[in-house]
Amino acid sequence: MRTPIIIGNWKLNNTIAEGLALATEIKNRVAATRHVDVAIAPVFTSIAPIAQRLADSSVSVAGQNCYWESSGAWTGEVSPQLLHDAGARYCIVGHSERRQYYGDTNVDVGRKAFAIIDATLTAIICVGETHAERTNNQTNDIIQKQIDGAFSAISSQQLTHVVVAYEPVWAIGTGNTATPDQAQTTIASIRTILSKRYGSPQADTLRIQYGGSVSPKNALDILSKPDIDGALVGGASLKADSFVEIVKAATLTVAATPMVR
Ligand code: 13P
Repeated sequence: MRTPIIIGNWKLNNTIAEGLALATEIKNRVAATRHVDVAIAPVFTSIAPIAQRLADSSVSVAGQNCYWESSGAWTGEVSPQLLHDAGARYCIVGHSERRQYYGDTNVDVGRKAFAIIDATLTAIICVGETHAERTNNQTNDIIQKQIDGAFSAISSQQLTHVVVAYEPVWAIGTGNTATPDQAQTTIASIRTILSKRYGSPQADTLRIQYGGSVSPKNALDILSKPDIDGALVGGASLKADSFVEIVKAATLTVAATPMVR
């Protein structure tokens, strides 16, 4: 069975003090949660203090991006090894904002994803189509190319250190959530693409999240879909109330299938 995973992507928000306060509240309020993995992705400067604060808790810390080299003359970059050193256990890679504003290509995402796993972190690999691509029926082609790039160096043994996040670009920060059926259909296609690459037992154990305007209002409907294994949450992760509600929704989907847990 796949354990749902809820990750808060804070993007470029929160000072160290604000991040510590939010992380501490989340830690306290999800302390009793079972069978759902929870992580938050603060800005780089907050990773170490927040990871320290969460050290004895069930909440993990993620980076939002990294470089693929481990060290050297790469001004301004952060390596997965240094994220691990700071206490992160996950790193997001290929987020559409990175692809759109910083030119991260499918090849770059593959290099970064491999480096993240090599540094013993789990890679949260983001894929997703734009509105124009969906309108032109290119969703599957685009995602196939994103997966080909992202997984180019990843072996089937390494898949336990991968989570995929399906984030349709048109749904991010817009309030236009994909319908639960749209999200389920595309995520099922992603699983099919991965099963062609690695075999279905491997693809069946890999977790695939949905991201894009997830809120306490829509979380349960989305997370109840059979192929959707959690959420990558942006705006709603910046308030403890809404983030914790989404974690609770995930626990309800687990409780709905007690026989297999
Ligand atoms: P929103 O939840 O704000 O739409 O952001 C989604 C996202 O980009 C998470 O990585």
